[in-house]
Amino acid sequence: MTLRSLDGRVAIVTGASSGIGQATAYALARAGASVVLSARREDVLSEIEQDIRDETGVDTLVVPTDVRDHEAVERLIERTVEEFGRIDLLVNNAGVLRRDIALENMPIEDYELMMGTNVDGMFYATRAALPHLRESNGNLVFIGSDSGKHPDPGIAVYAATKWWTRGFAHSIHAREGRNGVGVTLVNPGDTRTEIGPPDSRMVDQYEEDEILEAVEIADAVVFAARQDSSTTISEIDVSGRDLMTDTYRGLLPEDSSAE
Ligand SMILES: NC(=O)c1ccc[n+]([C@@H]2O[C@H](COP(=O)([O-])OP(=O)(O)OC[C@H]3O[C@@H](n4cnc5c(N)ncnc54)[C@H](OP(=O)(O)O)[C@@H]3O)[C@@H](O)[C@H]2O)c1
Repeated sequence: MTLRSLDGRVAIVTGASSGIGQATAYALARAGASVVLSARREDVLSEIEQDIRDETGVDTLVVPTDVRDHEAVERLIERTVEEFGRIDLLVNNAGVLRRDIALENMPIEDYELMMGTNVDGMFYATRAALPHLRESNGNLVFIGSDSGKHPDPGIAVYAATKWWTRGFAHSIHAREGRNGVGVTLVNPGDTRTEIGPPDSRMVDQYEEDEILEAVEIADAVVFAARQDSSTTISEIDVSGRDLMTDTYRGLLPEDSSAE
């Protein structure tokens, strides 16, 4: 496997104003890529852009975008091509999470928010970017979730959006691989970011290093993006090393010997 340099390559990151997207924008810039930062909060994006420029000197662009609006997403892709002439990488990252333990009481707005962002948004961005990724033999990275591989009873709708992402990513891989596009699904485990309902965000529930940090997911994205045009990494699960400890408590050898 040869890893290619990201020097001068052009990357779009959706949801770049916080968490995994923000960390990914920094990691890509540090690897030499020109970075297009997109999310809804323009003021936050502009601060991150300035900081990335000061630190790395790479070219950057901010395009405020609500990924639920397909015309806005098309403008994001057009602005990128106008500015840089190409797209080498799309990181489909923007996503939201709301809980639904009592499904019958779940606000319809929460359902629409998750479906619009996690499903429609990833579809719109992929649809608009694909022709450019074919031209550049580029890479398409989807941020899925460990909740997209297992039942997750407390967040059924969120989990379902991530099962959709997984099915979509692998199907696009199957179709576009021969057109030169590398497709990778990155599945983070619990990561300390702003995700979650405003009153219980991950970042407020966990101390530093108690769960994954966004930079660890960003490193996986950079690794995926560095696959050259003959190889791809189809799926990466990023988890703490104690991933299954709770699931198998009592069955692991050290648990039985302790009893
Ligand atoms: N943190 C975890 O434990 C975890 C685990 C597995 C998977 N993930 C996935 O990782 C991805 C990133 O989440 P995160 O944990 O980094 O959360 P985060 O810190 O809340 O970041 C989410 C990003 O998405 C943007 N966003 C939200 N709605 C948007 C919209 N309609 N249009 C454009 N951008 C929008 C937000 O920016 P604005 O508010 O400025 O728009 C923000 O930049 C998501 O796909 C999430 O499902 C996270």
